[in-house]
Amino acid sequence: MSHKRPEGTDDILPDQIPLWLRFEQIARGVFGRYGYLEVRPPLFEHTRLFLKTSGDTTDVVEKQMFTVPSRSEGEDSYTFRPELTPGVIRALIENGLFHKRPLWKVFYIGPMFRYEKPQKGRTRQFHQFGVEAVGSKEPLLDVETMAVLADVLREVGVKEFALQVNTLGCPDCREAYRGRVRQAMGERLLEYCESCRRRFERNVLRVFDCKVETCARLAESLPAIADFVCADCRAHFEKVLEGLRDAGLEYVINKRIVRGLDYYSRTVYEFTSTALGAQNALGGGGRYDSLVGGMGGPDVGAVGFAAGVERVLMAAKGVEAPAARPDFFVIAAGEEARRAVFRIAQQLRAAGLAGDLDYESRSVKAQMRRANDLRALYAVIVGPEELAKQQAKIKNMDDGVERVVALAEVAGLIGRARE
Ligand code: HAM
Repeated sequence: MSHKRPEGTDDILPDQIPLWLRFEQIARGVFGRYGYLEVRPPLFEHTRLFLKTSGDTTDVVEKQMFTVPSRSEGEDSYTFRPELTPGVIRALIENGLFHKRPLWKVFYIGPMFRYEKPQKGRTRQFHQFGVEAVGSKEPLLDVETMAVLADVLREVGVKEFALQVNTLGCPDCREAYRGRVRQAMGERLLEYCESCRRRFERNVLRVFDCKVETCARLAESLPAIADFVCADCRAHFEKVLEGLRDAGLEYVINKRIVRGLDYYSRTVYEFTSTALGAQNALGGGGRYDSLVGGMGGPDVGAVGFAAGVERVLMAAKGVEAPAARPDFFVIAAGEEARRAVFRIAQQLRAAGLAGDLDYESRSVKAQMRRANDLRALYAVIVGPEELAKQQAKIKNMDDGVERVVALAEVAGLIGRARE
């Protein structure tokens, strides 16, 4: 029987790892420059966390959760995190971090899980990187999170991307708006799909997430929240736009952005790329000022984003990240040298050099080929003659120059050449 990976998952193979490492290094560099600290919550949480925060009528929660029952009787089931915002906020509250300081700027990079229909740019296990600035309602923090994502995208090598922004108002303005949408939608309710008719009853704003063509078309004629927000929310949005202009970040206002999760208030945004095809969202986020208080934490504002690592790498196509070259490959010339080469390799590794040797008793020619394939900087060749004199022949694999040196000097020589 042959085994296949589950549908919607990917193997990230050794030849792709340098690209991922390059990406992580760049992202960490940007996060560090803005003062964001890393946080690593668990990969799974109690299911109710997502029901209460992401929203039980959202597609993510209603249709896409990987849920496993708990084995302890009466305990809630577990769900593999479809997103990390709820887990991050839970972690900040549960660990009492708000007693230590009022504003927490944190970042994460890691796998997420959504039981979706797989297609290009959409998988069931994917990776997100994101930030959450928790503890302030200041509009400039909204701008900062957008600047962080823009910096990462630019530095990674995504040439074309667009930033779309919108405001969803606060719970107060949304209440009035909800009534407007229900009224407008009610007039043509029978034309909407069954899910949307359910959304009409339970959480009418989720109708904007519907992927059914008729519903999407009908939703276009519904009133837009941005036209109904209160004076405070409007002022907040104006400050965000002003901050974006000050930061030199180009944006377009898109009144149709509502985001597919329930916790947002005021600013929402999405970064898209034409390099991606149908799943064109690189990342998105926004403000969620009611979530921390609603989860039992202090009544503080928060804003953040998450973006898909796979999608960003796809949009940065053409960028290369060469694998690191090993410093050495030790070659045994003859039986006698076999034991010695392992010892020599260990000494070189202990000296901080990276390299390998042949364990399969292959010919010198085959060992040399392997040194070439691995792109080792030096071949360290040891035969009976060298052994007897406690020496080794070292060959610079780039220019082919060979020299015989004392074994005790090999590490130093290669180390210096590498610098
Ligand atoms: P989201 O829009 O659901 O937001 O996901 C953010 C990004 O994750 C998407 O733009 C996309 O690049 C990537 N993504 C989502 N689902 C998949 C998938 N199935 N396959 C590949 N990539 C995917 C959030 O998750 C919020 N937590 C963002 C946030 C943080 N809001 C405030 N703070």
